Amino acid sequence: MPPPAFHPTFRESLAQLLEWRRDVRHFRNDPVDDALIAQLLRQAMHAPSVGLSQPWRWVVVRSAERRESIRENFAAANASAAAAYRGERAARYGALKLEGLRQAPVHLAVFADERTGTGHGLGRQTMPGTLTWSVVMAVHTLWLAARAEGLGMGWISILDPQPLNRLLDVPEHWIPIAYLCIGWPERESETPLLEESGWEQRLPYETLVLGR
Ligand SMILES: Cc1cc2nc3c(=O)[nH]c(=O)nc-3n(C[C@H](O)[C@H](O)[C@H](O)COP(=O)(O)O)c2cc1C
Repeated sequence: MPPPAFHPTFRESLAQLLEWRRDVRHFRNDPVDDALIAQLLRQAMHAPSVGLSQPWRWVVVRSAERRESIRENFAAANASAAAAYRGERAARYGALKLEGLRQAPVHLAVFADERTGTGHGLGRQTMPGTLTWSVVMAVHTLWLAARAEGLGMGWISILDPQPLNRLLDVPEHWIPIAYLCIGWPERESETPLLEESGWEQRLPYETLVLGR
């Protein structure tokens, strides 16, 4: 097969995909086909990884009891996160919606297998963090692939990672990287929800790119 040519119309669509990818926390509760999730995971696994280590491990969380435990974990972690803010910032934090755990039809936990022999350690001796960064690359690839299908994805990091491995019955040496909610979004926006809610703004390009 010859390599594909990416035409200007594709590039325009790609730019829109990047601009319209959102962290989604408002989901419709209609189901998502298992085959579609499998397709997205296969696409995510095209992500780069240090030494071709492919350290990502994906757990589709289907059990109602386990999902409830995750919601309880979030509630406790969010309450202690909220306690770190004072005054008007605390009130703003309290008004934020920071997860879509109850509505999202798909819950996906993502881990990095720290003991994988795949890749023979290449690239990790100087920067051990590259193993977990590789998993983050795959999560972002999944995020874009999901958005291209019209699906929304939300990343929840407001969780105590300590009990996750036991709760999901996975090896203790897998490092929790992300807990993701996936489903059909209730709304679409070009603007991050945290910006819409007045929590934070996107920074100007000039303040982020240096020339030396
Ligand atoms: C590592 C990581 C962790 C995140 N954790 C949370 C979270 O716990 N709750 C939440 O509402 N959003 C979370 N987000 C989403 C960010 O708030 C969001 O990406 C950011 O506000 C920009 O919005 P956008 O993704 O719609 O562009 C997380 C994003 C990343 C990359």
